[in-house]
Amino acid sequence: MDDRHEARQRGVSRRTYVKMAGAGGAVGIAGLAGCTVDTGGDGGGDGGGGDGGGDGGGEKTIVAGTAPGFPPFEMKQNNELVGFDIDLLEAVVSETDYTLSEWRTFEFNSLIPALQNDRIDVIAAAMTINEERKRTISFSNPYYNADQAILVREGGDFQPQSLDDLSGRKVGAQEGTTGAGLVESRLIEEGKLEQANYNAYGNYVLAVEDLENGNIDAVVLDVPVAQTFAEERNVEVATVVETGERYGFGVRQNDDDLRSALNSGLQAVRDSGKYEEIRNKWFGSESEAGTETAGNETAGNETASGNETTTQS
Ligand code: ARG
Repeated sequence: MDDRHEARQRGVSRRTYVKMAGAGGAVGIAGLAGCTVDTGGDGGGDGGGGDGGGDGGGEKTIVAGTAPGFPPFEMKQNNELVGFDIDLLEAVVSETDYTLSEWRTFEFNSLIPALQNDRIDVIAAAMTINEERKRTISFSNPYYNADQAILVREGGDFQPQSLDDLSGRKVGAQEGTTGAGLVESRLIEEGKLEQANYNAYGNYVLAVEDLENGNIDAVVLDVPVAQTFAEERNVEVATVVETGERYGFGVRQNDDDLRSALNSGLQAVRDSGKYEEIRNKWFGSESEAGTETAGNETAGNETASGNETTTQS
């Protein structure tokens, strides 16, 4: 954290930061690897008055849920929950008349149940807006775009150029994600990959560790996260599968008030330049930012103007 902050102050890029952190050992990487993901047993008490959908004009306190181990969107560093989603949701909520009282962590596929059971009021977990999820929850407007990447061991012989190339190999993904969905629908269901060759993990850190160890040959996951792992570990992006996903904050279907508050808050952080500041903090503001956000313009990952402005560094 402090390192990152310091790095930012000195104007070094995220890539450089990650290398520095890597050289210095510990910080980001160890924090990430050691990251324990609660399966929902996360003590946390009741979260006092998380408004369970009833408004009633009292104090509007909400509890947020996320699934760490998905850098740089959400991860634990020195046991502290940090990341783009954490900063963004906090900034967005501070523009509304809601107060964010607490963050609770879950495995990704426990987030929607947690929302439905009122254990949390909003999901901020780089969650892709899709029709299937929209049958059970609602989403804010999109706040980030992503495609899927195929991650392999760095410098290895296996360099797949398409999903089909994963046929007959060992493949991993995080349970309940769109990456897992892609493996299931485009490979397993089409008979190109045997179920036994597919490993579903509780989080992507475990999947990437298995990739590094040679237990699997490829991991399918969101591009920005794949790029972050590639910077931090001995893995690389072999190819990108264009899925055109957009992330949104998830809320209960009856929580229209919260959903529209989040949408106004999102617009406010875009207009104020805060969105760009947070994006630069976690994705860097140099040329790499151009690559990482190039496909994101339509979701307005940029400032309100929607321009892919080149930030001078
Ligand atoms: N965008 C993908 C999805 O919605 C992956 C999200 C995983 N998020 C996480 N915090 N682990 O399925």
